[in-house]
Amino acid sequence: MTSLTQNNEAPDREKTPSSDAHRAGNRGWSRRAFLSGTALTFCGLATSRAEALREGEGMAVGHGDAPWYPLNVPTETSAALRELTCAPALVDMGDGRLRGVLAYNGRFPGPTWIARTGDWVTVKLLNGLNEPTITHWHGLVVNYPNDGGPLLAIGPGSSYDYNFQVKQRAGLNFYHPHPHMLTGKQVCLGLAGAFIVRDAEEDALVLPSGVYEVPLVIRDASFDNRGNLAYNPTTSGFNGRFPLVNGTLRPMLKVDRGVYRFRVLNGANARVFRLALDNGVPFTVIGNDGGLLRSPVSISPIDLGMGERLDVLIDFSAVGAGQTVTLRCLAAKWDLIQFVGTGAPGVPYSAPATLSTIAPLAGPSVPTRTFTFDGMSRINGLEYDPYRVDFRVSFGVTERWRFTTGGNAPHPVHVHGASFQVVSRTGGRGKLYAWESGWKDTVLLSDKETVDVLIRFDAYRGEYDGQYVMHCHQLEHEGMGMMTNFKVI
Ligand code: C2O
Ligand code: CU
Repeated sequence: MTSLTQNNEAPDREKTPSSDAHRAGNRGWSRRAFLSGTALTFCGLATSRAEALREGEGMAVGHGDAPWYPLNVPTETSAALRELTCAPALVDMGDGRLRGVLAYNGRFPGPTWIARTGDWVTVKLLNGLNEPTITHWHGLVVNYPNDGGPLLAIGPGSSYDYNFQVKQRAGLNFYHPHPHMLTGKQVCLGLAGAFIVRDAEEDALVLPSGVYEVPLVIRDASFDNRGNLAYNPTTSGFNGRFPLVNGTLRPMLKVDRGVYRFRVLNGANARVFRLALDNGVPFTVIGNDGGLLRSPVSISPIDLGMGERLDVLIDFSAVGAGQTVTLRCLAAKWDLIQFVGTGAPGVPYSAPATLSTIAPLAGPSVPTRTFTFDGMSRINGLEYDPYRVDFRVSFGVTERWRFTTGGNAPHPVHVHGASFQVVSRTGGRGKLYAWESGWKDTVLLSDKETVDVLIRFDAYRGEYDGQYVMHCHQLEHEGMGMMTNFKVI
């Protein structure tokens, strides 16, 4: 705290809010932050760099007259990435200030992994935090030692070696920390990223690609009085004061007159986004958590729960130079990102009526198991105990799981170790949405809802390899104990 005014290191180093400067800024600062010592606490980092951060600056965010900043597009990396370091970093969220976050490889969000089905991922996680962490590959079906569950957490200065093959179909996955009771804090302070899998079925569709395919990691955030990310949950979870997309404040993206493919992830701790475009044009949804849908779905708005993903096409061919379209959250009444027309020709695309072949799971018509999401911390009346295994599932057998809640929603229910097919929702909203078809690993349970899914674990089994968790992806609920251990045997 005493060194606040003595630090003269490069304040306001990146004034120009161009995407390139943004990315370069991320890279340079994080490296220095990490090299300056793994023992630095988040607060320690913030104060030692505090000259770059003006007190109270967070207060200005979200006011209508603030400028728009170019969207950060997280750098792509191949499955050959060998090291993933979690550490404090200073990043530019677009407005030229350096703000303290926790970052993967210094990026906020972390690098976007691109892998193909069949690729091997061999990566060393390095813990540069001052507390335990472990990384979970949300949506990737891997065995227990690669799944990053709570019991695998490693201490400060330690490392963990992952080695797994990507066996599943194309889709957008989500990597983030999963240490017991620390997930909410670490995700909120910045540790999260996208993991994209590609395959031949997707290739055959020749979807918009390159600059026309853009990940959108949407979350909410708050700053402390120095402008660093803050984690200050209330009893109902973390509710940030403003949105961030790919770590950019008030983001804008210049769009040509063509079709874009957006890979959307709700990376918030506790906020459901009600997504819609301000021009009233519906989204063309082509995929969700587990990859492509059978057929495109035209819909708006979409309530996207925490941990859920969307693959959407948006056609900007009618957007002329300087015209804008805004992606909004109707629930929070937030502008999430503004698309600004360049007037330049883009690439047309029209999705075929059949995108993918998805065989429906055949399973029981009555639930095999029922899970009640009680209060804010219990499943079937029990809080999580890392060492208690609550049930065992037979390998290769399709079961029908029923998720139900009386209240305290949203409870986005997430299962590790397999994707499922959602078959019904009763109570509450009382219906399924077409975009929830296909394969999912997270399904939103609103108040008084009962959702049935069919699920079959057919990848990994055994007392060790087949151990997984199922939990609420409202991360404060998860941290308080709304999680259960099971084994596939
Ligand atoms: Cu996205 Cu078990 O988590
Ligand atoms: Cu919950």
